[in-house]
Amino acid sequence: MVKNKNNKAFWGTRIKKTSSLFQEIGNSIDIDKRLFIEDIRGSEAHVQMLSKQKIISKKIKKNIINGLKKIKNEILRKKFVFNKKYEDIHMNIENRLEQLIGNDAGYIHTGRSRNDQVITDFKLWIKSSSNDLDLKLSKLIKTILKLANKNIYTIMPGFTHLKNAQPVSLAHYLLAYVEMFQRDKGRYKKNLESLNENPLGVAALTGTSFNIDRNYTSKKLGFKKPTRNSIDTVSDRDFVLDFLYTSSVCSLHISRISEELIIWNSDGFNMIEMSDKIVTGSSIMPQKKNPDPLEFLRGKTGNAYGNLFSMLTILKGLPLSYFKDLQDDKEIVFRSYDSLSTCILLLDEVLKNIKPKKDKMISLAKKGFITSTDLADYLVKNYKINFRLAYKITARIVNYAEKNNKKLDKLNLDELKKFYSKIDNKIFKILSLENSINSKKSFGGTSFNNIKKMIKKYYRVYK
Ligand code: ARG
Repeated sequence: MVKNKNNKAFWGTRIKKTSSLFQEIGNSIDIDKRLFIEDIRGSEAHVQMLSKQKIISKKIKKNIINGLKKIKNEILRKKFVFNKKYEDIHMNIENRLEQLIGNDAGYIHTGRSRNDQVITDFKLWIKSSSNDLDLKLSKLIKTILKLANKNIYTIMPGFTHLKNAQPVSLAHYLLAYVEMFQRDKGRYKKNLESLNENPLGVAALTGTSFNIDRNYTSKKLGFKKPTRNSIDTVSDRDFVLDFLYTSSVCSLHISRISEELIIWNSDGFNMIEMSDKIVTGSSIMPQKKNPDPLEFLRGKTGNAYGNLFSMLTILKGLPLSYFKDLQDDKEIVFRSYDSLSTCILLLDEVLKNIKPKKDKMISLAKKGFITSTDLADYLVKNYKINFRLAYKITARIVNYAEKNNKKLDKLNLDELKKFYSKIDNKIFKILSLENSINSKKSFGGTSFNNIKKMIKKYYRVYK
């Protein structure tokens, strides 16, 4: 039960006693105390507006603002006693305000409700946390760019279905992840645009009869404008879903690169070396160096999805407007944010501690007739035949090479001529890994020059 300093419940005049079991488990203070800065900021804006509108006197406004300052200091200095009895951060602060300034505190809740208060706090928090994730992603992108820049000429097999497909530069591969993390940044940014409407002042669900100025509080709190419908405002958690979805997609990207590196690090592929900083050992097998941090990252993605699905499920079938069900939104978002921000840092650390095994990459790339497409393309360009015919000729050559246990570039001209009589010596140049990569000059392709240009372009943004 929420009580004031006289030990009288805020709603005690009406409700005799809430079960102490529910009081113990139904409160949210341990979770939402994280919103104290935002809550105080919202309250300051609210009372400044009330005073400007002459709904409260300047003196009361001053007292409240001074009280709130004290409370902020107490919390920052860990002197504030959070009390489960007061349910959440909003009531804890209002209760303390009453202890500090007495009756004037009773004016703070004029023309507002916890329903609009909590969304205001939460939107402000998500705003700054999205900006923080955006910054962390930029740092991660810088690390990837550095690694890419060192590996423009590092040749590896590009895979489809995890089978050798076409040769590719390691840098090009890494830059694919730069694109993904850039899109994540874009999504956070877009979310900020759509949450940029101020909920404060819609009160419980229908607005208020006090002559409040919601444009004023919008400006004070850095929102573009006030929300337009009071019922929608207190019911809406789309901005929470946006955050959770964006964080899930970002986690998914982290999981994909993690899985990729786990495969590359496996003894079968053996394409990268991981420093001792980013492996752990086995309790029984003395030889082991396991890529635990990468597996940790892959695993956390499951939790991120879980958080998104928790929220979607809470909202499904929930009528308008406020219900206690919604209280869990904060725990879910905090979990997602905490996990993702440490995961971004961890991936950054991993990427700073891996090295490509260039020889191994090349020898793997030499397997699986990886330049077959180059051969087919060459036939099309050089002998003006259609691609489907060139594909068939090349497939026959590959069948022959496989049967005779030879690599494509180890076949001699006579052997090749059996499949297409016009083939000449120039064909061997086509079959090298470097040539294949360098020939992919189409925009967005893996040619060394393309990569250099792209890295330069990214560096302009991320340096
Ligand atoms: N602690 C509550 C929450 O997080 C604040 C809103 C409470 N509103 C209410 N009508 N009980 O959802």
